Amino acid sequence: MKLILFFLFSISLFGAIKDTEPSSTCKTCHPIIYTEYHDSMHRKASIYNDKIHRAVWNKHPLSKKKKYVCAVCHTPTDKRVLKSLKEAKPALPEKDAIQTQDAVTCIYCHKIKDVQIHAKRNINIMSKKTKVLYSARESQKDNSDVSYKIQTNFLGLVTKKSGSPFHDIDFTNKNFYNGKMCIGCHSHKQNSHEFTVCKMDMDKKIKSKDNCISCHMPMVQGSFTTAVDSKTHRYHGFAGTIHKPQMLAKYVDISLDKTDSGFDIEIKNRATHQLLLHPLRVGELRVDIIRSGKTTALKSAKFMRIIGKDKKPSMPWVADSVLKDNHIKANETRKIHFNKKLQKDDVVEVRLGHHILNPKAGKKLGIKDSALTGFTLLKKERFKIKE
Ligand code: HEC
Ligand code: HEC
Ligand code: HEC
Ligand code: HEC
Ligand code: HEC
Repeated sequence: MKLILFFLFSISLFGAIKDTEPSSTCKTCHPIIYTEYHDSMHRKASIYNDKIHRAVWNKHPLSKKKKYVCAVCHTPTDKRVLKSLKEAKPALPEKDAIQTQDAVTCIYCHKIKDVQIHAKRNINIMSKKTKVLYSARESQKDNSDVSYKIQTNFLGLVTKKSGSPFHDIDFTNKNFYNGKMCIGCHSHKQNSHEFTVCKMDMDKKIKSKDNCISCHMPMVQGSFTTAVDSKTHRYHGFAGTIHKPQMLAKYVDISLDKTDSGFDIEIKNRATHQLLLHPLRVGELRVDIIRSGKTTALKSAKFMRIIGKDKKPSMPWVADSVLKDNHIKANETRKIHFNKKLQKDDVVEVRLGHHILNPKAGKKLGIKDSALTGFTLLKKERFKIKE
């Protein structure tokens, strides 16, 4: 019997990773994930890549005071701006690599250790370890320190490699399994009048296995790294109202019920939060009836949360009250009645979608771009009336 000897080496090919490490570094070994990220709103969250954010910032009173407080969530890797804010010095974003290429970076997300809950806004607690990134993998969930290992046989030939030569991995952070790492930036925000401008409005009762990660980062085709041949990886384009909303269509069900006076459209929101979150969004349900080849559009239903002061709509920093809120809540089934009698062979076409930017707010902000103020489709359904 031949005796084969194996040797295991744990080596570190690179030194510490900077907190400002550009996402393009990760591209070398994670090209598919990088490409998806490049198209996502996380990369584009700065005033240089997001027109709406820029327009709101330009009108914001802190803009004149040169205090870009938005950086904590929109460009958290911009240490220069964050340091200046702390020292009460002028802190304005500049058109540099971080602002244009790396608003919310790979390294930032992958170093969020925990989230502290506060009334004004939550705070991300960052890991101080310079080489360790967090990730989630069920099969490794007790493994806190996966480093690069090379196994060789007695001839010195490499037989197996594991881990990453660039970074170590900690798989034990629960926040990467349940989605808590997202809510440091996404949960809620109060303005200076202690008024909550936006909130996730999560349904605490829901015990769903779905969380931020499973819904917004579903498993899709393609390997997570060039070094391993995995069939799938977590989608890093972060489907939302702006980028690829149709990827989320399966979390909304639309049905039709004929009634004596017309018909009801039922929308079931299976998201664990209110269907639309940002105060600039307006939801819309469009219904067309196709009868003998002729299409008639019915009056659409709109969903919005209008905030303001003294009973008038206002910008978020002025607002101190909610003037109207008919958004479809977490896990709610909303019934909308249409007073139109249906006939046999009618086709009812239903489109649920939204305006990324409320056209009225668009006017105030000087944005006319129809890709932003026009109708964006989330889900379409056709019902053929049988009797
Ligand atoms: C550092 C703060 C931060 C963290 C952490 C963060 N986000 Fe975001 N996210 C943002 C910001 C800022 C935007 C808005 C970008 C814009 O539109 O300018 C955003 C936008 C989004 C959108 C909307 C995209 C669209 O196309 O409409 C989704 C969905 C999203 N994030 C999901 C997540 C999920 C899921 C997680 C956790 C895995 C997460 N985010 C973690 C800051 C963050
Ligand atoms: C607590 C974290 C946080 C802070 C601070 C913050 N934002 Fe945001 N912002 C977000 C998140 C998360 C989103 C994505 C929300 C969504 O898509 O529902 C967002 C989205 C936006 C959008 C919508 C972008 C779009 O493309 O439609 C605007 C506009 C915006 N923020 C403006 C600002 C401004 C201006 C500031 C600073 C005065 C600021 N935000 C500070 C977290 C934050
Ligand atoms: C908004 C936060 C966020 C950003 C930005 C982000 N990630 Fe992730 N990433 C996560 C979370 C959360 C997971 C864990 C999901 C899981 O596997 O359950 C993850 C998983 C991964 C995985 C392993 C899972 C797999 O099979 O796909 C890799 C590799 C990865 N990310 C690399 C990157 C790279 C490279 C970038 C930048 C191009 C990046 N991430 C940007 C939040 C983020
Ligand atoms: C030199 C190549 C290389 C670079 C550069 C690199 N990685 Fe990796 N990474 C790997 C390899 C290889 C693995 C797979 C390790 C394994 O499965 O044994 C990995 C795994 C990961 C995982 C965990 C995947 C899992 O199993 O859930 C995350 C998260 C991750 N990388 C994020 C990043 C981020 C963020 C960057 C940029 C800051 C980056 N990586 C840069 C090679 C690299
Ligand atoms: C069961 C699936 C599901 C879960 C769980 C879920 N979402 Fe969503 N999310 C959706 C759907 C559906 C939409 C609506 C997209 C649309 O209308 O275009 C959405 C929209 C969003 C948006 C864009 C809203 C806006 O107004 O621009 C953000 C940001 C977001 N989700 C973040 C999160 C975060 C963070 C979590 C975890 C705390 C989470 N989601 C959990 C399904 C889900």
